[in-house]
Amino acid sequence: MIKSTTIFLFTLLSFSLLITSCSKTTDEDKSLYEKVKSDAGFTFYKNNTTILQSSASSPHNAYFRMRYNSIAINAMTDNGKLPVGGSFPEGSLVVKELYDSPTGSLKLLAVMEKASQGSTGAGWKWAEYANDGKAAYSVAKKGEGCVSCHSTNSRDYNAVFNLFP
Ligand code: HEC
Repeated sequence: MIKSTTIFLFTLLSFSLLITSCSKTTDEDKSLYEKVKSDAGFTFYKNNTTILQSSASSPHNAYFRMRYNSIAINAMTDNGKLPVGGSFPEGSLVVKELYDSPTGSLKLLAVMEKASQGSTGAGWKWAEYANDGKAAYSVAKKGEGCVSCHSTNSRDYNAVFNLFP
């Protein structure tokens, strides 16, 4: 009896630890979310607000649209894209709004912030946020699982430019 109670409590503890570690939203997550939660001050890719279908190689939701802050936009001098071999300046914010249908509501924000300080992977902070601002993917993970797939292009880890005209 004592033994099964101990096992039960231990299992409960392991589960609660697992759940808190998965859903942890850090201060870094919160401050980045504040910068990206509204589209005020952002410019949509090619000034187009249409929700597009994701590429076949994408693991993200089926539909998306892109917005960039002014620091990022100013570097996008190759017909509205970052030039091949170029790099975004510090403070650039790249926000991918994710949808499940072309007319549906926003599901997630996938975010990259060019940063030399803090939790970075390949010079970027990587995050995903639910609509309530909770981190679906925390900056603390330093782009683990994101960077390798995003490194298959020569436009500073940004995949959209080569895949979408
Ligand atoms: C298997 C490959 C793959 C993985 C893994 C991946 N992405 Fe992406 N990502 C893409 C592709 C492809 C696009 C281009 C748009 C599309 O088709 O969805 C993209 C676009 C983006 C964009 C828009 C900027 C751009 O042009 O690249 C952001 C932001 C982003 N991903 C964030 C993330 C984050 C954060 C993670 C990790 C949690 C991640 N991605 C993991 C393939 C990947």
